[in-house]
Amino acid sequence: SSSVVVAVDGTSGSGKSSTCRAVADRLGLRYLDTGAQYRAMTWWMLRNGVDVHDPAAVAAQAGTPVLRSGTDPLHPTITVDGSDVAVEIRSDEVNGAVSPVSTVPEVRERLVALQREIIGDGGIVVEGRDIGSVVWPQAEVKVYLTADPSARAARRALENGGTDVDATQASLLARDKIDSGRAVAPLTMAEGAVHIDSTDLALEEVVDLVVGLVMERA
Ligand code: C5P
Repeated sequence: SSSVVVAVDGTSGSGKSSTCRAVADRLGLRYLDTGAQYRAMTWWMLRNGVDVHDPAAVAAQAGTPVLRSGTDPLHPTITVDGSDVAVEIRSDEVNGAVSPVSTVPEVRERLVALQREIIGDGGIVVEGRDIGSVVWPQAEVKVYLTADPSARAARRALENGGTDVDATQASLLARDKIDSGRAVAPLTMAEGAVHIDSTDLALEEVVDLVVGLVMERA
């Protein structure tokens, strides 16, 4: 039904964004990229000289930036204080700082509240690390999407112009390590989630699997 919530969690670079956007487009649902929100919060901290490795400094500012997410799967948008930051949030600087910022409980409380507000009455595919476990445990469909690190790095490097697979892999693994090991809302397979390993699957095959789950459960 149109009030369905599809929660997709998983490691960095496992194909969550491409999968979720295609699923939402196929089923006429909205799409929310919660990683983009953590990235936008991080971008604001860096931009405003906040030491991202000082949890107290990050916590003190967690309520300051105004974040907005557009939920059209074909044209997702993210703004901070009214400025479009879609490009800036994909920088190496943000890649290196986003996981430490995301460990800060005040940041998570703020963004989880925003995410629940956007999910509202449902009709949405939501991607992140803690959607099925914390943000929306009542989701009708939960997917845990993973892939082998080398496959993830190769795909991500290709998206970024074919450069430096090794550095890309190191950056993905560093984020996974912090995301899985943190005290608050660690990356984990939520209760009731279906595990899809996309290592040897084409995007369309993963999309078909997730669409199938939605048809059967919603
Ligand atoms: O999904 P993406 O790779 O863009 O997310 C960037 C980072 O944001 C993750 O590595 C993680 O530290 C954080 N994140 C999170 N919880 C979410 C989504 C993202 O902690 N629900």
